Amino acid sequence: MSKNSIENERPVISCLNVWKVFGANATDFEKEKLDNLNENTLTAKKWTAAVCDVSFDIGRGEVFVIMGLSGSGKSTMVRCMSRLIEPTSGDVNIEGENLLSVSDEKLIEIRRQKMGMVFQHFALLPNRDVLGNVAFPLQVQGISRKEREVRASEMISLVGLEGRENFFPAELSGGQQQRVGIARSLASNPSIWFLDEPFSALDPLIRSDLQDELLRLQAQLNKTIVFITHDLDEAIKIADRIAIMDQGRIVQIGTPEDLIMRPANEYVARFTKGVPKSKVVKVSTIMKPVAGNHAKTSSFLNINDRVADVADILTKTQEAIGVRNDGGDIVGVVDRETFIRILAGADIK
Ligand SMILES: Nc1ncnc2c1ncn2[C@@H]1O[C@H](COP(=O)(O)OP(=O)(O)O)[C@@H](O)[C@H]1O
Ligand SMILES: [Mg+2]
Repeated sequence: MSKNSIENERPVISCLNVWKVFGANATDFEKEKLDNLNENTLTAKKWTAAVCDVSFDIGRGEVFVIMGLSGSGKSTMVRCMSRLIEPTSGDVNIEGENLLSVSDEKLIEIRRQKMGMVFQHFALLPNRDVLGNVAFPLQVQGISRKEREVRASEMISLVGLEGRENFFPAELSGGQQQRVGIARSLASNPSIWFLDEPFSALDPLIRSDLQDELLRLQAQLNKTIVFITHDLDEAIKIADRIAIMDQGRIVQIGTPEDLIMRPANEYVARFTKGVPKSKVVKVSTIMKPVAGNHAKTSSFLNINDRVADVADILTKTQEAIGVRNDGGDIVGVVDRETFIRILAGADIK
């Protein structure tokens, strides 16, 4: 994703003041008027506000992670974005279309054509093989058997399960089953990809493999991704931006670096406390700018590299390190001492 794509293009997903209130007669909520609504009203009415006044825009090709503790409203929010759950109030726009005012038929069409979904519990059909599971969404759309099986086979190869087309879910490991879930969600070539804790049920090593796999796929496919997790390491690894939810509200939205260097409140700080700064701090943050496309160095980093990811440069040079932007221009230098200090966990001065 380039920054420009967010700034210049219309957002792909735009949520404005979205609320979801659960409870008897929760539709009364709209009549209550937002100014009168507080914890007391919610308690008195026995309502739960799972999502409270959430607004954000997501740009094309962006990986937007929603993170928060269990029960903070993440699943409810992502379901509001596809209207699997009807928001109680607010607006959800998908590629410029008001999702909340479209007919049921149109909604189904938008979901089929634009949205792929992956859930924590893989939700595979146990009596269908891998090919049948991946082809299923296309079958529902009435696509011919031949065509859907060609497409499904491509998706199966894409996620590294070639040769297992005729295995049944029970014959696959958890990681393989989730690869099937991923292949199925991509079968109809959606532009938007919703993943709700897709790797949370997996062992750490498998989980890490699948995170790498997701990044590899994203580099190839460039979807607009909404990814839910309660794991900060996972969020940092894959996110362009992270939204932190607490009790239904978004308390901060920013890059991993923003959240760790400038947590908005105690809740965010608690989440981010143990994260080494070097994992999120970019070279751009610690470099000294230079003018005129010139630095007396022989080694170079990219301005967007994260310090921990490029630590091995220190073994290759004894000098200051040059910094290039995406266009290849020299824009700064980092001295070795600063670099080593950040790697050792020091704060940025
Ligand atoms: N169908 C429902 N009816 C009543 N309360 C619900 C329902 N779904 C979710 N909730 C409540 O909404 C809050 C947020 O839930 P959820 O969105 O599942 O959180 P998360 O995905 O972050 O764990 C929780 O307090 C949960 O109990
Ligand atoms: Mg959830």
